[in-house]
Amino acid sequence: MDYQIPEIADASKKLKDQLNKLEDKSAVLKSPELKSLLDRLKQLPPEERSKFGAELNALKQELAEASASQSEAKDKGPIDLSAPFDINATEPKYLSQELGSIHPLNQELSNVLDIFYRMGFNAYESREIDDDYHMFSSLNFPEGHPARDDYDTFLTNQVDPNKQPFIAPAHTSTMQNRVLKELKPNLENGDPIACVIAGRVFRNEDLDPRHEHTFYQLEGVYVDEGVNTGHLIATLKTFLQSYYGKELKVQTQPFYFPFTEPSFEFSLSCPFCDQKGCNVCSQTGWIELLGCGMIHPNVLREAGIDTDKYSGFAWGGGIERLVMMKYSIEDIRYFESGRLEFLRQFK
Ligand code: DAH
Repeated sequence: MDYQIPEIADASKKLKDQLNKLEDKSAVLKSPELKSLLDRLKQLPPEERSKFGAELNALKQELAEASASQSEAKDKGPIDLSAPFDINATEPKYLSQELGSIHPLNQELSNVLDIFYRMGFNAYESREIDDDYHMFSSLNFPEGHPARDDYDTFLTNQVDPNKQPFIAPAHTSTMQNRVLKELKPNLENGDPIACVIAGRVFRNEDLDPRHEHTFYQLEGVYVDEGVNTGHLIATLKTFLQSYYGKELKVQTQPFYFPFTEPSFEFSLSCPFCDQKGCNVCSQTGWIELLGCGMIHPNVLREAGIDTDKYSGFAWGGGIERLVMMKYSIEDIRYFESGRLEFLRQFK
């Protein structure tokens, strides 16, 4: 609430700061600041008293509610952070729940998924360990294909029954073959395959403000009869306009991915400067956001889908990127840093 009377506005700021630090939250209602405002009320001439009284009451009410809700959060008890079955943990580790909040990436992922649910898509989650077939072969990267090297993949020492190391997936496209197979009956029933897949991915990257070794991607897969590039562009544009809450322009540039043909890099007009030029878009007015294209017939065939009858589009891009643009976050490394001063801004 905004207070008009400067003394009350000052006290409000001070008391809310105090409240966050107090062990016993209700003590804020007995603070000397509040008491002196009450004394002041009594000394005021009658014509000033009613406005001052109303604001003071509102402040008391606001503090009482804040103190009650913070104590309630506290009463939920601390969170036990010790790993289950950790033989090295001699005693439990606790974190007060009072300070907890949903991670900004999770909050934003819910917003993103809500938009796609409304557009008729289902959601899946990708895996955190996978194999060569799903990372490469099922996506039309033959063995020894140079494009495999673009992904800077982390491998395990442990090998699968085919003597291939396991892979920490470097993109959510690892799920394409699985969802296509699982949702193939949709096509037989006359419905499209329409799903998005969110998940954590890993790359052996040099770290800088725009690159992390661990980040999140959102993949989309849509297959039906008569699907074309126009559907792809319209779907992404509709999503982005809804997410950023404004009209945007989009453009595609030819690109290469083994699993799409044609393949594109997809850009949107900078939502910050409306293409006037700013730091976010490096003065170009455009932001490259994700990779996309028409699913390669080999990928559809690998999942047993009849490519004479059906076609589809897919896309994949970083979720951090979307969120960084929404909130002008300048460094991707903040998300996994555990820095409370960053995380608290999203409470
Ligand atoms: N997997 C690609 C990457 O991480 C992104 C991508 C491009 C996903 C095109 C797709 C696609 O589904 O169709 O670089």
